[in-house]
Order: sequence, then C-alpha cells, then structure tokens
Amino acid sequence: MTQKTFATAALSAALALASTFALAQSSPATLTIHPDKSLHPVSPSLYGLMTEEINYSYDGGLYAELVRNRTFFDRWEGVLNWYLIERGNSSATMEIDHKTGPSQALDRSLLVNIAKADAESPAGVFNEGYWGIALRPETTYTGSLWAKVDAANMGPLTIALVSNKTGEAVACTQIDALSTGWKQYSYSLKTGALEPSADYHLALTVTHPGKLWMQLVSLFPPTYKDRPNGFRKDLMAKMAEMRPAFLRFPGGNYLEGDHINERFEWKKTLGPWVDRPTHPSPWGYQSTDGMGLLEFLEWCEDLKMQPLLAVYAGYSMKQEHVDAGPALEPYIQDALDEIEYVTGPADSKWGSVRARDGHPEPFKLSYVEIGNEDFFDKSGSYEGRYAAFYKAIKAKYPQLQLISTMPVKNMKADMQDDHFYVRASVNFNDATHYDKTDRNGPKIFVGEWATREGSPTPDFGAALGDAAWMTGLERNSDVVVMAAYAPLLVNVNPGGMQWDTDLIGYDAMKSYGSPSYYAQVLFAKYRGDKVLDSKFEAAPTRVFYSANSTADGKKLYLKLVNGNTTAQPIKIELPGAKPSAVAKVVSLSAPSTQTTNSMADPERVVPVESKLEGVSSSFTYTLPANTIEVIEISLQ
Ligand code: AHR
Repeated sequence: MTQKTFATAALSAALALASTFALAQSSPATLTIHPDKSLHPVSPSLYGLMTEEINYSYDGGLYAELVRNRTFFDRWEGVLNWYLIERGNSSATMEIDHKTGPSQALDRSLLVNIAKADAESPAGVFNEGYWGIALRPETTYTGSLWAKVDAANMGPLTIALVSNKTGEAVACTQIDALSTGWKQYSYSLKTGALEPSADYHLALTVTHPGKLWMQLVSLFPPTYKDRPNGFRKDLMAKMAEMRPAFLRFPGGNYLEGDHINERFEWKKTLGPWVDRPTHPSPWGYQSTDGMGLLEFLEWCEDLKMQPLLAVYAGYSMKQEHVDAGPALEPYIQDALDEIEYVTGPADSKWGSVRARDGHPEPFKLSYVEIGNEDFFDKSGSYEGRYAAFYKAIKAKYPQLQLISTMPVKNMKADMQDDHFYVRASVNFNDATHYDKTDRNGPKIFVGEWATREGSPTPDFGAALGDAAWMTGLERNSDVVVMAAYAPLLVNVNPGGMQWDTDLIGYDAMKSYGSPSYYAQVLFAKYRGDKVLDSKFEAAPTRVFYSANSTADGKKLYLKLVNGNTTAQPIKIELPGAKPSAVAKVVSLSAPSTQTTNSMADPERVVPVESKLEGVSSSFTYTLPANTIEVIEISLQ
C-alpha cells in the first residue's frame, strides 16, 4: 500500500466511523407516545387469578384449616399426620376403622383403642398440622369434631394446643361427655401471651380406657372477613394487592383429575363437610374439599373478582375420555346444573341448593371454560365434546362467553385459552406474540402463563421475563382480554411443592411475594384504561414498553422493562402533551437476575417509589439496568 492509498483508506475509514457515529448520534432510541390518540381500551378484565389444588394451595395454604388429614382419607393406609399420645403408664393404639363413620360420605374414622389411661396418664392422639400449627397470642381458635365412644363412661375429652418445644399446653378445653353414637362437638381454644410460631400441635386425650372414634377434627384461626370455613388473611391480602378481575377455578389438572372418577365433582363439594367425601387430587394428595364450589365463589365475592368457571368436559389426564354422544350427556347436564348453582335464582333447582348452603343471592357469571388443556387428549375427541357442551350451554345461557382450551375447527369459540410456561429469554423474544393475531378470530384468554426460573418462587430474572411478556399482553388487550399467572401459590415446606416457580410462597405462619408477584402488582395497579398510539424507533434489544392512559386522559402510565445489564437512554416524545415536570417512578430492580425473595428475606426485591424531574413533551430518560418500571406522568 502506498502512502497515498493508505491516507485515502484511512480517510474513508475515518469517514465511515464518523458517519456510523453520526448515525448512532442521530438515532437514539426514541419512544413516541401520543397521549391524545388511543388505539383501543385496555381490557378491564386483563389481570386475574388462576388457581387449583397444587402445592398445598388450599389445604395447607389458603384454606385456613389447621388440622392436616382431618378426614383420615389419605392414600396411605396408615394414619398420616396423626401420632399416638401415651403419657405415663397409658397405652393405646390407633387405626383407620373402615366400618364406621358419621355419614355416607365419610364412612370411615380414626379408632383410638385405649387399653390403659387415667388422670395422671392420659392417652390419645395429636395432629402435627401442615408443617406445624401456627399460633398467635391472645387469639381464639374455633374447632369441631365428630366423635363417638364405646361406653358412656369414657369421661371428658381434653383438647389442647401444645408446644412442640416444651410439651406444655398453651390453650386447653374439655368436652365433658362423649356419646356412644356419632355426634358433632364444637370447641374453642384461646391463647394467651406467646411468641407467634408454628411450633405447636393439637392434642386430644382421654383418661379412661375404651374405644374412641373420631372424624373431621378441625381447628380454624380467625379468617379473612371472619368467614367460617374461610381463608388465610395474609394470602387474601396479598391477592387483593394484585387487583384481580377474575378467578379461574377449579383448575388446571385439578379440574380433570388423573381419572374420570377423580375429577372435581362439584356436587360432592357442597354443604356440611360431613357430606363431602373428599377426593384424590392429581398432584399427589387427598383434597378435603373444604374448598368446595361455594367457597370458590365466596372467594370471588371477597376479592370482587368475576368467577371464570371451568367445567369438567369429559377428559381426564390418564387419557380417559368420554366421546360426544349419549355417554357425554350426564357430564353436560352436570355443567348446566353447575351453572345453575352459580347463577340460578334461589327458587331454581340448583339455586335453591345454593340458598340452602347459605347464599341465596345468585353470583354473576360471564365466562365458562370447557375443560382444561384438551390438546393432551390423544383421542382427538375435544372437537366433538366442545361442540356438544357449547350447544347445550349456549342454548340455555346465550349470554355466557364460552372458552375453548385449544383451537377448534368446526366452530368459532368465543374465547380460546392459551398456556405458556417458558424461560425469560423466550418471553424477551416473544413479547410480540399477539401483535399479529387475527382480530376476527376468538378472543384470547392466557389462562396460565409464567416465566419459570427460580424455585420455589420466581427470581428477579423471571420477573423481567414476565414484565416483558405483560407489555405484549397489554398492548394487545383488544384481543387478549384476560390473563393469569400460574401457579399462584406454594407451600415452601419440604414436600409442599409439586411445581417449581409459583408466585406467592408461604409456610404455616407467614407468606411472601416473589419478584414476579410484585411485577403483577405493578402491572395491575398501573393498568390504565386506554392503549395509546406509540412508536419505538431504534429500540434497543431486551427493552420493552407499554403506554396506557387513564380513561380521563389525566395520567399516562409508561411501563418500561430493561432486560439488559446496562442502562438504556431513551428519548421520550409526547407530541402535543403538557406533562407535569415531575413524574412518579415505581421501580422493581435487583443487582442480579438470581436475586429473589424468600421466607427468610421476603422483601429483598420490592417496588421502590421515586420522583423524576425534568419531564416535558420531549425528554431523555435513562432506564436503569435490569429494571421494571412504571413512570406515572400527569397530563394537563
Ligand atoms: O399450572 C400447573 C399445571 O399446568 C396446570 O394444572 C395445568 O393446566 C398445566 O399443565
């Protein structure tokens, strides 16, 4: 190369570099939002809850019952969660007695055969609770049990809450005489001053030899809104923070069961517990069905959610199915009866059962889902089953929106349920998933979705993936009208979890929200009512946004997600707007994607509020690394 050519080459290289630089300079990432141009409303029902009996979500979770295996129906033939008490010289045995129980539904019981016992040496059984029984000071616990004895001279039954550490009773009561026939007894136990802890058990003892049978031994703490047979206060409060518009229940796999005879049979979940036979859940444990159909509906009522009722549609997970035709008719009738139980007037057949159960007022119902994940049914029977349910339900309830669990060819579903369980990187690449969805097809219900990273609850990296995904849901909420993270709940004790990555974790005593939980809270709180026209030019990779305004146009919610380890400057243009110079910023961020919340460190990653100054119709904002943010801008 001559000197001249070198000089020319150097010059053109310098020019090229300069022009690249100039190009980079002239095209910063620019997000233009038109506050006065809305594309479509944000679906008001966009964010809701999906739940089922998984991870001890209800028993040992939301359902506040403290006694574990209260019906002695666990699959193991021993007596799970119950232990003998043989104090001093007493001696006793225990076994399941399959020949006697207080009802047809509960036709078995726990037989405690006391060979020797006296006042100094009581005998009986204790229950360990769901990984302990949580007690708080100065609190009244409400209990009941069904019992009978072989001879009326058995004497009093002592019921006590006992410390696992000291063996001392911290609350105690007696039932003076037990009958020789099955009878229900109620009791209450009040604690005094004590350290809140889950290190307690419930003991039932007698001081005479004889036979004692028990069934439905129950103990409840004070519940949310003081509902009998109600819910844990801390978990309800956490869900309330999510401002859920709907509740999809009862599943998930839990709706279908492994086998047809293990499906969620709603008729067997009604009325007094003694008439609820309980059933095996596909997640490996027996469900008490204390959370029956009415309790789901009351849960909706308490959190002001619309019920999204999933009806069993003739498919269970071990590839058992019922083809459309006469064999399916009883299942269709069952679904019609269920809808009547929910919505029928108190003088209708099933509405009157609801009234008998204590809720004369019908519930509002707009959505019914037919089955769950029927794409797993290898027989291909869903097309026919769906059509049969659709026709029958629409004929009686034309106002209902019916949801299919997979695409159906021969008819247009009102709505289709899509499920996504993915890694954060997938959500980063797929946040535009619904941008091109056919607006003439069925509406979309993203009935289960989650970024699955972190166990038992998602870490901050998962929350970033979630937030990126949710920007796409919001932007497309003309077609994606509902969405729910799943699973919602996990008991974090050993053996409590069947599915990694669940939104809210807890033990017997306390609960915490994962980073993903806080992302949900932020998106729901700052959902907005209108999706604004916007354009992101020179958008950096792994940066996502959604721009909505309130119905009155006075607030703009700009959600920004930065899935990069470096901060990203963004020029924000608000043509024609006169924003207040100071905006509110709510940030969820963490030093690493592995950072997470836990029982031990429940608030490591939580939203933090700050002020942003210098907001105008054109300003530059540097979006910090690894951050989910909402900027709330006031518009005049
Ligand atoms: O959310 C856990 C399970 O995932 C649900 O029960 C099922 O519908 C899906 O496969």
